[in-house]
Amino acid sequence: MDRVEELKREAGIAACSFVSNGMRIGLGTGSTVKYTVIEIARMISEEGIDVIGVPTSESTRELAEGLGIPLSTLEEASPLDITIDGADEFDSDFQLIKGGGGALTREKRVAEKSGAMVVVADDRKQVETLGEFDLPLEVRKYDWQNVSEQLQRICPGQVSLRGGESPYVTDNGGYILDCRFGPTISDPASMENQIKSIDGVVEVGLFVDMCDAVVMAATSGVATLLKQGGRLA
Ligand code: A5P
Repeated sequence: MDRVEELKREAGIAACSFVSNGMRIGLGTGSTVKYTVIEIARMISEEGIDVIGVPTSESTRELAEGLGIPLSTLEEASPLDITIDGADEFDSDFQLIKGGGGALTREKRVAEKSGAMVVVADDRKQVETLGEFDLPLEVRKYDWQNVSEQLQRICPGQVSLRGGESPYVTDNGGYILDCRFGPTISDPASMENQIKSIDGVVEVGLFVDMCDAVVMAATSGVATLLKQGGRLA
């Protein structure tokens, strides 16, 4: 396992300190939270904890199902106690860019219905200003060109259809546009509102005021950063 993979694993496992018996847990998507899902399965089989998971994507559903984690839907299990998920970037206000794995819409729906949100990440994801990572948007399939044109007013850089000529299709049947803002998104709430006002946008990969803690792994160790005034502080 290379060093970055090892950090992902450390963060993913450490976040399970927020998991306890009886919880309904939103299970995020991505290569870091994968280790959280594996650890939850271990806690179920070895420690006997009783939890229910709500997956944020088909890939997480398959992983969790294969590991024997009891699953439910958001409709049935809501409200959830906690969601644990990855992020592509987080800033010092705990605002996030997500959607590198294309699951942003379900990830947001699940996080919105959770009593708290914990992000698992390695320290490469910590930024001063959001936007170095291209901002993903989910758009309605047949509106992507129109949305892309409208975005030229807002986004200074390139807007690309993920997958190009063979577009990536989300679990909801939508497309993803990746928007090159550069590290300029200092007011993510107003940016989210501006983008959401474009017809055809399903969801924006900005998660504003949703994250309560980041479990961040670095070569110096794992740190749990708690948002002051957040739901876990
Ligand atoms: C999935 O759509 C994303 O929001 C992921 O949570 C995010 O891209 C982080 O993934 P990694 O942990 O694989 O970097």
